[in-house]
Amino acid sequence: MSRILITSALPYINGIKHLGNLAGSMLPADVYARFKRARGDEVLFICATDEHGTPAELAAAKAGQDVRTYCAEQHDIQKSAGEAYGLSFDWFGRSSSTENRDLTQSFAQALEDNNLIEERVDRMIYSIDDGRFLPDRYVEGTCPHCKFEKARGDQCDNCGRLLDPTDLIDPYSSVSGSRNLEVRDTSHLYLLQTRVEPELRAWIDTKSDWPQLAKSIAHKHLEEGLIDRGITRDLSWGVPVAYEGTPRPGFENKVFYVWFDAPIEYIAATQEYFNQKGDPDGWKRWWRLDQGAEDVNYVQLMGKDNVAFHTVSFPATIIGSGQPWKLVDTLKAFNWLNWYGGKFSTSMNRGVFMDQALELLPADYWRWYLIAQSPEGSDSSFTWEQFQSTINKDLADVLGNFVNRIVKFTESKFGGIVPEGGEAGPLEQKLYADLSALLTEATEAFEAIEMRKAAQAVRRIWVLGNEYLQEAAPWTAFKTDPERAAVIVRHGLNLVRLYAVLSQPLIPFAAQTIADSAGLSLPQDWPTTDAQTELSKLTAGTTVKSGEVLFKKIEDDQLTTWAERFGGAEA
Ligand code: MF3
Ligand code: ZN
Repeated sequence: MSRILITSALPYINGIKHLGNLAGSMLPADVYARFKRARGDEVLFICATDEHGTPAELAAAKAGQDVRTYCAEQHDIQKSAGEAYGLSFDWFGRSSSTENRDLTQSFAQALEDNNLIEERVDRMIYSIDDGRFLPDRYVEGTCPHCKFEKARGDQCDNCGRLLDPTDLIDPYSSVSGSRNLEVRDTSHLYLLQTRVEPELRAWIDTKSDWPQLAKSIAHKHLEEGLIDRGITRDLSWGVPVAYEGTPRPGFENKVFYVWFDAPIEYIAATQEYFNQKGDPDGWKRWWRLDQGAEDVNYVQLMGKDNVAFHTVSFPATIIGSGQPWKLVDTLKAFNWLNWYGGKFSTSMNRGVFMDQALELLPADYWRWYLIAQSPEGSDSSFTWEQFQSTINKDLADVLGNFVNRIVKFTESKFGGIVPEGGEAGPLEQKLYADLSALLTEATEAFEAIEMRKAAQAVRRIWVLGNEYLQEAAPWTAFKTDPERAAVIVRHGLNLVRLYAVLSQPLIPFAAQTIADSAGLSLPQDWPTTDAQTELSKLTAGTTVKSGEVLFKKIEDDQLTTWAERFGGAEA
């Protein structure tokens, strides 16, 4: 048994996430966590809302709420949404917790103690009417190059050129529209990443076994060279720049940059979890190398835009602290799930958000599709047509149909009891061999966090059952050789049991329903690769019971309605 710490990138607080966000970290992290638990490992699966920064402040203002109330409400919404999808976090925390405030401040202090922090003066745009400094992208104005009138302070969306907010002609605040702006000096803390570069490089060089995407992005950033990084901002919402309750002089109105405190929340959320359990030291055996965390295997999952923060910035914080913290062992990154080749867009009504998707269909339908189409090797695209055909084929025709057919047949011919008698014949021997190979393949794919491959292998195991049943034809055998029919039915029902077990990580709700029909309780241990043994676990005499249709097919007219509501190819 091993100890596995799994974190998913923390979703931003500003509104419920769309299916692309779900597919790019939280869902695959859940599948992996469920798989590891079924393997008998001790798993700790942590996530949280990422609550600080300007986007949170602006979203709160737009909702007419103060930022604290807004975050509390949105946290609960995201937490329930996660539960509705079966995301099995051991803890879903909040980066605005007191645990994260204290830990973030203590990291900054350790970095200061190690001479890795420097105060520098920046020139920033200050909005007199808004009474605040404006981050680059909240300053807009006319592009000096192409004269586009709504260029942002960081980039012109019309000509694509990178800009500095002070380049803009006739700039205004996108928060209030005010043109009453001026450039002011402001002090910020810089983390001297350049000083930890050698250690950082040496550490990343030991990670040759990382999945390809994460590894290539990490190396690209290192090759571009590290720069010292501003870790404070002129904002009021965030972790105050204070040590042991005393604000750092000159930083009374500043907070740490959201990307400084967010990854620290992985640790702080673990503290939240154990504090709530009344075991305030419990987190240490997961995170402190001097207190038992050496034998933890730490796996992070995230979208590709997050990789730099997790391979450079956060490790620089940890290494720079000089304290014995656990660093990530395996980093799995994902590309984008797009919407018909373009971006999900709330404002343009393109794409489905987590809460809306459940108004259409149960969670497992989405889970299966999003994992089967996981954006691993490259970006992938959601289309309604592909969604329909994946669900109808894989879930309704292949899995649902198999379970329904064999259980119903058992009810009508064997009184709903797993029949005894008979010996396995050549068809069963072939089934054992094919199944063993596929079980090996599936298990290896899950271990390697290769989600598409894992889903494919599981699907092929479902197909194998259908082929077996088709060829063995118990309904024909039953007329001439009931003992032969009993052998087939027993194997078929054992496949039902196996499907419940294999489906646990991917479609946990349906797995439970399938398990119920085989009189089985979940969770069950992950199967070994010894197919013969696996196919004898449901013993003769056990009662089976058919239930509701497992998966309903998606009809064309449903698709038309949904495409109209959420946008589709025409959008
Ligand atoms: N909120 C960020 C995003 O959605 C991810 C934060 S991950 C953490 O891109 F490491 F900072 F926590
Ligand atoms: Zn321009």
